[in-house]
Amino acid sequence: MAKADAATLLGLALEQAIGPALVLDHDLRIVAATGDVAGLLGSNVPIGVAAPKILCGTSDHRPIAEAMTEGRPVSADVPRPGRDGAMVNIQVRAVPLLDGEDRIGWLLSLSADSWASDQHSDAVEVHGIWTRDPSMKTLLRDVGRVARRDVTVLVRGETGTGKELVARAIHLESPRSHGPFVAINCAALPPQLLESELFGHVRGAFTGAVKDSPGQFRVADAGTIFLDEIGELSLDLQAKLLRVLQEKSVIPVGGRAPVPVDVRIVSATHRSLREAVEAGEFRADLMYRIRVVPLFLPPLRERRSDIMLLVDKFIETQSSRGEREIRGVSPGGRLVLEGYDWPGNVRELQNVIEYAFAMGEGPILTESDLPPELLGEEPGPRLANLPRSRGGSAGSPEAERIAVALERAAGHRGRAAQSLGMSRATLWRKMKQHGLLD
Ligand SMILES: Nc1ncnc2c1ncn2[C@@H]1O[C@H](COP(=O)(O)OP(=O)(O)OP(=O)(O)O)[C@@H](O)[C@H]1O
Ligand SMILES: [Mg+2]
Repeated sequence: MAKADAATLLGLALEQAIGPALVLDHDLRIVAATGDVAGLLGSNVPIGVAAPKILCGTSDHRPIAEAMTEGRPVSADVPRPGRDGAMVNIQVRAVPLLDGEDRIGWLLSLSADSWASDQHSDAVEVHGIWTRDPSMKTLLRDVGRVARRDVTVLVRGETGTGKELVARAIHLESPRSHGPFVAINCAALPPQLLESELFGHVRGAFTGAVKDSPGQFRVADAGTIFLDEIGELSLDLQAKLLRVLQEKSVIPVGGRAPVPVDVRIVSATHRSLREAVEAGEFRADLMYRIRVVPLFLPPLRERRSDIMLLVDKFIETQSSRGEREIRGVSPGGRLVLEGYDWPGNVRELQNVIEYAFAMGEGPILTESDLPPELLGEEPGPRLANLPRSRGGSAGSPEAERIAVALERAAGHRGRAAQSLGMSRATLWRKMKQHGLLD
């Protein structure tokens, strides 16, 4: 194999790390371009020409050129005629290259997609719940509807899908919003402790009960109580909870007199209560009482359009904390994030972004900033089934990314190349290198 020179290697490294990019000198002239910029711009990249001329044309509104002349980092959309003549928006992020105090050049990172909120114009937010997925939007509409009346709601969804967030939203949308919101995890305490936690106890009810305790139902009076993991409630406590629902009063442990409470109940479960009823582990009468309105939260892998929205939102939040600012996700990083199955759903995604902030560097989140389980180093079920390359680089993360992109583009190389942020020629070269050409 021929030895590549340093400039070629650096160009490839840049392309690999952040996708299409231009390096400019102090006078904003193009010094180098990664191979895939031509594919994105639909024309060859003239080395030595001033970048604003290519990117901004002669339009009066030239946010990038203006910011760069002033030396500010900038991120903006530039409309440009694409390969087939139609206008496309190219997102340009310009980062000054500093040598000490001196600005000696610029790194422009380009992508066909715009970044953050402008890209997610169909996104909605209700009390911290972000989504652009149609089924989630329906769910949020239902949240607004059920909030108005005191019906019991059972939220079902896998771990980390946002069940507690939905319960809180119901409370905040309801006429009880000025009252307390109290969350209890029914799986976290043994039954005896849970009973006194929920319904309170009187002094002397058991060893250690040195004074009366009201219990969370009374704490939540005039508000909402959120019973998480309700399926884990013991049969004995199920009977007592049913009594509370019927009588609208609680009897503290060791007490006799029922104490009236005015509490709305929202419960959550990660498993089917109907199956628990069939298995004899849950009372059917209680199930009907607590799930007058059932709400189902789909797992993240079934609403993939939310993945990048949430990635961007969490990046925004973390960036605003100030230690590191991330302005975008590299095409490779994006592919990994969008292709992953997210068994831990939104919470896992949130943790992955925190990981990336802690472990990575620079203004672009790249795949190397992501934890190993996302990169197929411990292959998940998806990546494990991908075609293995025949060459020496079998199963390399790049080969897998390319295979994922081709799979998602149904074999359409142009689309796969675009999603990878590389030209068709680069894709072809890489497919050949990884033995992915049939
Ligand atoms: N649609 C969303 N938009 C923004 N943040 C979200 C969204 N869904 C969940 N989150 C965040 O993800 C995390 C997990 O959400 P939450 O605790 O509500 O999930 P859960 O279903 O109750 O999880 P578990 O079953 O593990 O208790 C929280 O930090 C929450 O703020
Ligand atoms: Mg929860």
